[in-house]
Amino acid sequence: MISKKPKNTIAKIHCLVFSLCLMLTFACETEPLEPIAQEPEIEDTTTADTTTNDSVITDSNACDTADYTFSGFIVPLLTDNGCKGCHQGSVPSGGVGLDDYTGVKAAVDNGSFLGSISHANGFSNMPKGGNKLDSCSIAKVELWINGGAKND
Ligand code: HEC
Repeated sequence: MISKKPKNTIAKIHCLVFSLCLMLTFACETEPLEPIAQEPEIEDTTTADTTTNDSVITDSNACDTADYTFSGFIVPLLTDNGCKGCHQGSVPSGGVGLDDYTGVKAAVDNGSFLGSISHANGFSNMPKGGNKLDSCSIAKVELWINGGAKND
């Protein structure tokens, strides 16, 4: 009777230590598994994303909205897209002269400038007979207009 008690206690301690070891083993087994499974995923997507984004940014997709001033963006836009070919001189197409700030500002103020290049209902689609401007250019025109369409 006396000798059984310590045996039971030792057995209990053994059992405790064993289960603790089991828990630790499982804890150690599961812990490193998660980061191992996540790390390559995160690295893969970030490296893949940045490389594709980088190449896309320098190519065409990303919209560089750093400069949307009248002189730095609007004037070259009108020249590059042939707008001035039809909209300048004493008798500009549609009576819309786009060869100076005053003419452009008038078209901005009556809504036809943005309306025509964004192909909105109720406006003639511009550039007439040409391709619609890319969405980045239209976004920058909007930025310029929302900024007060300044002669900057
Ligand atoms: C091939 C000639 C031509 C080109 C290029 C052209 N336009 Fe026009 N534009 C016209 C004519 C013609 C009108 C008069 C309306 C019509 O006949 O569709 C007009 C009308 C407009 C109007 C008034 C639209 C309205 O609904 O009130 C605006 C603003 C305008 N053009 C801006 C531009 C801009 C900005 C570009 C360049 C992105 C451009 N146009 C390119 C010929 C042209």
